[in-house]
Amino acid sequence: MKALKDRAQTVLINNFKDGFSIPCAKLYPFQWFWDSGLIAIGFAHFEMEKAELEIKTLLDAQWGNGFIPHIIFHTDTDTYFPGADFHRSDLHPESSKKYKSTGMTQPPVTGFVLEEMYRISKDKPATLKFIKTVIDKVYDNHNYFFTQRDPQKEGLVYIYHNWESGTDNSPIWDDIWDTMNPPEYNFERRDTTHVDAAQRPSKREYDHYLHIIEIAKEHNYSDEKIAELSPFLVQDPLFNAMLIKSNQSLINLYELLGDHTKIEQLQQWQNKSIKAFNEKLYDEELGAYIHYDLRNEKPLRYLSSSSFAPLCASIPSEARAKKMVEVMMEKFGGEEQYLCASFDPTSERFNPKKYWRGPVWINLNWMLFKGLKQYGFTEIAERVKQDSVDMIDKNGFYEYFDSRKEMHKDGTAGYGGNDFSWTAALLIDMLN
Ligand code: DGY
Repeated sequence: MKALKDRAQTVLINNFKDGFSIPCAKLYPFQWFWDSGLIAIGFAHFEMEKAELEIKTLLDAQWGNGFIPHIIFHTDTDTYFPGADFHRSDLHPESSKKYKSTGMTQPPVTGFVLEEMYRISKDKPATLKFIKTVIDKVYDNHNYFFTQRDPQKEGLVYIYHNWESGTDNSPIWDDIWDTMNPPEYNFERRDTTHVDAAQRPSKREYDHYLHIIEIAKEHNYSDEKIAELSPFLVQDPLFNAMLIKSNQSLINLYELLGDHTKIEQLQQWQNKSIKAFNEKLYDEELGAYIHYDLRNEKPLRYLSSSSFAPLCASIPSEARAKKMVEVMMEKFGGEEQYLCASFDPTSERFNPKKYWRGPVWINLNWMLFKGLKQYGFTEIAERVKQDSVDMIDKNGFYEYFDSRKEMHKDGTAGYGGNDFSWTAALLIDMLN
């Protein structure tokens, strides 16, 4: 195991650039929001300074309104599409003047990442000192979400683009694509020059992705206009669970810092969100959490690894957690499967090779590992960890993995980018 951990550290060190990490070479040559956060957890185990720098750089790109972009384009390179010139986030009056970025965000992991860094730290006073310098920025980010992304004041925030979900081409979005008919855009894909096209989204899916951005651009990325007009407007259980988990971490950290000025507000957001989450996003019949299409006012009744992520934010009751784990084991946890496929393996939309349409992702496994342990499902948590180690050991530090065990015989069941940072970072954390 030591050798695997050493290799993981090498992956992280190689992907660390000038104050931030890239997710992997060529395919993702910039800084990504939730990647950065999860990478910092890995670095915290062996180079706290780099973990701090990662977060510092990320927060340095925060906008005047508290928004944190999903990609920060630190360098000029044409190996990625769509780049800064397509996104034109500078159209927003409060965008960063210092960095080019996208005008969309990603799951807000920063709050709980800070708490993880504190947990891991061997010099807690020094880490707390660092946290003190950045925590208000994370608070401002939560303030942005709760005040700008919740038009009906429900306690649940929306995402307006599939790239904001992090689960980019999930089959769940197919229902939304069915409600849209974007033009066929003329553009040159870069991702498929680095990775087999069979493992990436289709051209038509990209038309949808670009179209939503065009609408946001037309309105200078105004949150109000996006809420009114974006054809994609979804309450996502993974995204909202990350926000709730981060929110709890902010409460815990402000307590540690002895700063009580923001705790009441955070607690109000927290109570309202958890209640709304349990009332609106839990599907009794499926026995897990689902997405809600706010634009078309309809639940999207599909099981995915996001359905179980609320465990790691302590959202379900014990009884619900038990039911969720039963469902997960029945549908995703058969002996022939590695835990945990990103989409329901019993569905006809399942594709074990294609990005978020079925493969296993280590970031979701890490969340499940944490959540299962918290609720006392120790054995299943251990299996999630062991499955993750096994897949990485057999194939390398890939972006995602085939969920079918039989495919892992000759070390070719790792897909997408190789030497992928969060795969390495979260393996280090699970092994510690
Ligand atoms: C991509 O380019 O596929 C990225 O995941 C978008 O965030």
